[in-house]
Amino acid sequence: MTLREGANHILEEHQFQGSPSFQTSALLSRCCSGYTETPRGGGGDSFYLDKLVAAGANRSFAGDCCHCMRDMNNLDEGVEFLPAMNSKKMEKRGPRRQVVVTVLIIVFLLVSLTTGLLFWHFKYRNTPVQKVFNGHLRVLNWEFLDAYENSSSPEFSMLAKKVKSTVEEIYKNHADIGPYHKETVITAFSEGSVIAYYWSEFLVPKYREESLDRAMADKQSLVQRWNPRLRNPMLKVESVIAFPVDPSIAHSARDNSCMFSLHAKEGEVTSFTTPGFPNSPYPNNALCYWALRADASSSISLTFKTLELEPCRDDSDYIKVYDSLSPVEPHALVRLCGNYAPSYNLTFLSSQNVMLVTLVTNKEGRFPGFKAEFFQLPKMKACGETLKGESGTFTTPYYPAHYPPDMDCVWNIEVPSIKNVKVRFNMFFVLEPGIPVSSCTKDYVQINGTRYCGERSQFVVASTTNKIELRFHSDQSYTDTGFSAEFLSYDSSDPCPGKFTCNTGRCIDRSMRCDGWLDCVDGSDERSCTCTEQQFKCQNGWCKPRFWVCDNVNDCGDNSDELQCSCSADSFKCNNGKCVPSTQKCDGKDDCEDGSDEGSCSTGQTTVPCKEYTYKCRSGHCISKQNPECDGEQDCEDHSDEDNCNCGLRSYVRKSRIVGGQNSDVGEWPWQVSLHVKGQGHICGASLVSANWLVSAAHCFLPLQGIRYSDPSLWTAYLGLTDQGDRSGPNVQTRKIKSIISHPFFNDYTYDYDIAVLELQSPVTFTAVVQPICLPDATHNFPVGKDLWVTGWGATAEGGTGASILQKAEIRLINQTVCNQLLTDQLTPRMMCVGILTGGVDACQGDSGGPLVSVEPSSRMFLAGVVSWGDGCAQRNKPGVYSRLTSLRDWIQEHTGL
Ligand code: ARG
Repeated sequence: MTLREGANHILEEHQFQGSPSFQTSALLSRCCSGYTETPRGGGGDSFYLDKLVAAGANRSFAGDCCHCMRDMNNLDEGVEFLPAMNSKKMEKRGPRRQVVVTVLIIVFLLVSLTTGLLFWHFKYRNTPVQKVFNGHLRVLNWEFLDAYENSSSPEFSMLAKKVKSTVEEIYKNHADIGPYHKETVITAFSEGSVIAYYWSEFLVPKYREESLDRAMADKQSLVQRWNPRLRNPMLKVESVIAFPVDPSIAHSARDNSCMFSLHAKEGEVTSFTTPGFPNSPYPNNALCYWALRADASSSISLTFKTLELEPCRDDSDYIKVYDSLSPVEPHALVRLCGNYAPSYNLTFLSSQNVMLVTLVTNKEGRFPGFKAEFFQLPKMKACGETLKGESGTFTTPYYPAHYPPDMDCVWNIEVPSIKNVKVRFNMFFVLEPGIPVSSCTKDYVQINGTRYCGERSQFVVASTTNKIELRFHSDQSYTDTGFSAEFLSYDSSDPCPGKFTCNTGRCIDRSMRCDGWLDCVDGSDERSCTCTEQQFKCQNGWCKPRFWVCDNVNDCGDNSDELQCSCSADSFKCNNGKCVPSTQKCDGKDDCEDGSDEGSCSTGQTTVPCKEYTYKCRSGHCISKQNPECDGEQDCEDHSDEDNCNCGLRSYVRKSRIVGGQNSDVGEWPWQVSLHVKGQGHICGASLVSANWLVSAAHCFLPLQGIRYSDPSLWTAYLGLTDQGDRSGPNVQTRKIKSIISHPFFNDYTYDYDIAVLELQSPVTFTAVVQPICLPDATHNFPVGKDLWVTGWGATAEGGTGASILQKAEIRLINQTVCNQLLTDQLTPRMMCVGILTGGVDACQGDSGGPLVSVEPSSRMFLAGVVSWGDGCAQRNKPGVYSRLTSLRDWIQEHTGL
């Protein structure tokens, strides 16, 4: 493959059982057993209840309860227990009873009022909130002992007790903290003199929550209130820092079934894994902690060797690494979820001798987890240096590992006095989550007062003197891989000898000037150009290759290259650019000759008469929707359009961040196959379309120099391969070929019908690096101008040698008519042209048989073509030719059943 540099671009259950209101009404109902309207706890809303209580109260005393009493009197009189001499006593009872009733009423009113007040107080003002803070403090007058690393040692318990009482004392002395403190647990110690890590739990009324937060955040006031001189304490503490944490996470911290403490051994690498790795998935609903330590003057380097967690979502499983032994956000280094390609750099450095790895998992999913390694290394003393000379290179500390947090570096660069200096950043990753690149308030690079941050492609900063000062700052949280840069001296009158100088200071090849491509990124190479014969002059003045006109891509930026191609108001524009009268759209006739006017004529699952360009469901019914296969929507009544859709997806969502290069990452093209012939090595490419079938080019199996390449026994297929030099790698699967079926119409002169299917002797196992590509339906439409990807180990230049690392190139589908003109009528309907007409990017010898894939809106990838032939490689106006999969789809189905 030939590639051109620069071409990439919650007490609401109304607590009635316990609430004063309910008790009141329950009492009332007991007073009169016939009182049935008393609401039962839990049923109604508070408004309803309050009303009933009030009504019940009135009725009880003014009505029903009096009625009860009357009944009691009736009972007394009827039985006549009392003799007549007691009549006076009986008379006296009258006024006493009134007093009693009045007192009862008053008492009841008082009780009602108090309960009402209490109800309001508890419900609205005083709902206690649980709050947990994670923090650490420094004990100045204490020596660190190794035993402090073991939380079950007597030494740990002794110091923990002291620290705990100190913390409790500090809290007690603070009116906004003391009354709400429930518990404090000391979790760990580390050197310095002794740093104690702890969590504190509080139960605070809602209305006091804010003042608690404020008091806890004010470390100054915390220590000041703890006046050591007055009390002459055993522990002298400073830097009492605490941050609020999610109570659900903090709470499970009491369970130490998944807590590990590891200390790095001098000169040794220590590894650790998620529970069960690699034989069983990590546990659900888990919270795991790995406390990593190193000797006092060391720092820690931690690398995740393999990492496969639940795919990233808001509530998905995740790992967080902290530059502390306390899981507090201001010291978080990274949050990881999902699956990372093995080449993605997952090495992190600590600023001190401690690190904490946490794993938080939800209730579902089965994923392998991680294997990590760490070791200690001497703490970095100075960062940055003075660099002198004509040129040189420098990087952020530990590049390409993630730079340590809390660090400042200064590079003073000086080139010979007669020259000027410029700095070119070849890699630049200084990204902090949530920080806009316009502010660069956290981590940044500063040159001449300008700050740079974020993820940037290659850029140059030039100075008009022979000196430059470059500062790098990383704050306490979130780190990235940093930068790799070089400084160069230049002659102020000729900054790019023999090359074109972009306004950005970058030097590009002179041939890239005015070629339609923005090679300088800022477009300075495409300004002040006079368009050539082969170029189209955009309205905005840019010059673009004529062949880019009417290709469905807005190349000019102002769409002027696509204007003259639009059809009149009463006509329809076909996918191939042709204009047909609007009345012919959806008339059942293929007026466009590519089916696009009949492509999307019905909605939902409506069936239409079957035509060449309609999608046929398994039931035999046809639907009129473009590209319905595996698009995530069930379009056929029998759902056959979404069957067999386990294809076209990469396992790794996160690729390594290789910029500028065109080397593929491991697992980036999991359907790519390398076909080897014994003694000759890699000959052709192929695509995996199922566990035992490959699709390749028929011309790969033509007899040559007396060798019968159509003999399957000659061939070996390598799957899951990226580097030809690593064919015995653990993830590579090797298969012998059972049969090779070339298209019977293959013409070895015209290369028409250049397709073959190969059956494997035994099926492959789908893994993260071995996956099939989706086969498009014969009606699938790949529009002209669409960006497609071609991959292979072919020659990297015409007449050159093959690549060791799988190469990739992004190219465009070219209009068939235009291409047929360029290639002097050599195209047949089984062929299609894909390339970059300015040259420089193309497939080449050795790429044959390999995949040309399209990324569909569903993000699945489909096989659009097979590398077939070309007039040389990467030449101007000579795009590569590919076998058109859709025209050969039925033949593939016939022979593979797929
Ligand atoms: N026929 C070549 C092979 O056998 C593929 C050439 C593709 N050439 C091109 N310029 N796209 O590997």
